[in-house]
Amino acid sequence: MITQFFKIKSLNSKIKISLNITIYANIKRLITNNYSLTAKNSLIIWINLNDIEVEGGDDMEKVKFAMIGCGRISAKHFEAIEQIEGAEVIACADIIKQRAADSAEKFKIKNHYTDYKKMLDKENVDAVIICTPSGMHPQMGIEAAKRKINVITEKPMAIDLKSADALVKACDDNQVELFVVKQNRLNPSIQLLKKAIDKGRFGRLFSANATVRWTRPQNYYDMAKWRGTWEFDGGAFMNQASHYFDLVQWLMGPVDSVMAFTATLNHNIETEDMGTGIIHFRNGALGTVEVTMNTFPKNLEGSITIMGENGTVKIGGIAVNQIDYWEFKDYDDDDKLIQSAKTDPTNVYGFGHLGYLQNVVDALRGEDTPNTDGRSGRKSLELILAMYQSAKNGKKIALPLR
Ligand SMILES: NC(=O)c1ccc[n+]([C@@H]2O[C@H](COP(=O)([O-])OP(=O)(O)OC[C@H]3O[C@@H](n4cnc5c(N)ncnc54)[C@H](O)[C@@H]3O)[C@@H](O)[C@H]2O)c1
Repeated sequence: MITQFFKIKSLNSKIKISLNITIYANIKRLITNNYSLTAKNSLIIWINLNDIEVEGGDDMEKVKFAMIGCGRISAKHFEAIEQIEGAEVIACADIIKQRAADSAEKFKIKNHYTDYKKMLDKENVDAVIICTPSGMHPQMGIEAAKRKINVITEKPMAIDLKSADALVKACDDNQVELFVVKQNRLNPSIQLLKKAIDKGRFGRLFSANATVRWTRPQNYYDMAKWRGTWEFDGGAFMNQASHYFDLVQWLMGPVDSVMAFTATLNHNIETEDMGTGIIHFRNGALGTVEVTMNTFPKNLEGSITIMGENGTVKIGGIAVNQIDYWEFKDYDDDDKLIQSAKTDPTNVYGFGHLGYLQNVVDALRGEDTPNTDGRSGRKSLELILAMYQSAKNGKKIALPLR
């Protein structure tokens, strides 16, 4: 129960005021005179209406973002946010000054920095997007959380569980949201497949396969020092195939145990450029994952195949962007949608960033729940790390990892 004066700054225009003493609101953030409070669920606030000032409504304030890391993937985020009504990037940072300046100029961003902590201290932002080398994500997210700034981190959220957990905890402790970018879940073909599983159309699930047959020339790894290192990147499993590990566990459910082999056959890097893994799911189904960055001469396939007692589906293309096979025992109206679920991405990143960030904006406004939060993002990280343990020790590894 709150009785004193509050200025309510809402990211949610849907504040309902009933009579003159009660506000029913799904409020993301309450900013009081001296602290801010984030609510996960609806609040009932008893308050004197004469004492409140509501910002929002028709002139809803934009959700303000800052970007850390202005390299290759940041462009996807900048472009997506330009298309989202009610969202803007107001600051960006990169240790390479020219990159930050170029992004600021190209995407009309007010301020740019080389020191991301200075940016977090100076700029009044609702959320920060972290697009730096993977091993840096947790510490940068923690710095943002400590400043009560919501965190969106590119995948993977971390490259070890200890720092992933520290990031989740920092966000919990500071009552800010943590989003992990898993844009491939939003591909129309994958959404249809998920719906079919949730409707029980497969009956009992028997098996899952993920195949990532891509090409990465040596100059891709040479572009930046962090690529292909254990400290900041990980290999083909952790970097390139991380979406596929995520999809496999998201679609099939919890993993019981794994075994894997990895190899570095065609690149001058510390980490693996190919690997094969076997998964035993808790529901009894089996999975296989085949990943290579050594496909000649170009990207061939990024696919997921699910088989069950009443259905078989293969989502293929270069990045799970089209339905190659769709057979079920029983008809469903969704069967009419399989042609329209095809997309033609120009690269393996696909089109999912726009949908992903729209969900972030909606979630920050209290109008939706996060598509992939920190705990959900952690699951695929744990699966990949279990694969690495198996490849290193030559043993079957049980989950959860301790
Ligand atoms: N969702 C996807 O499909 C997808 C696709 C590609 C990359 N990613 C992820 O995005 C992240 C970045 O990948 P990228 O390809 O854009 O890498 P990149 O090397 O092109 O960009 C990283 C940028 O971070 C900057 N940086 C490094 N340290 C910094 C610091 N302390 N402060 C500020 N900036 C700093 C670098 O100067 C660089 O400009 C990785 O974690 C990668 O796994 C995700």
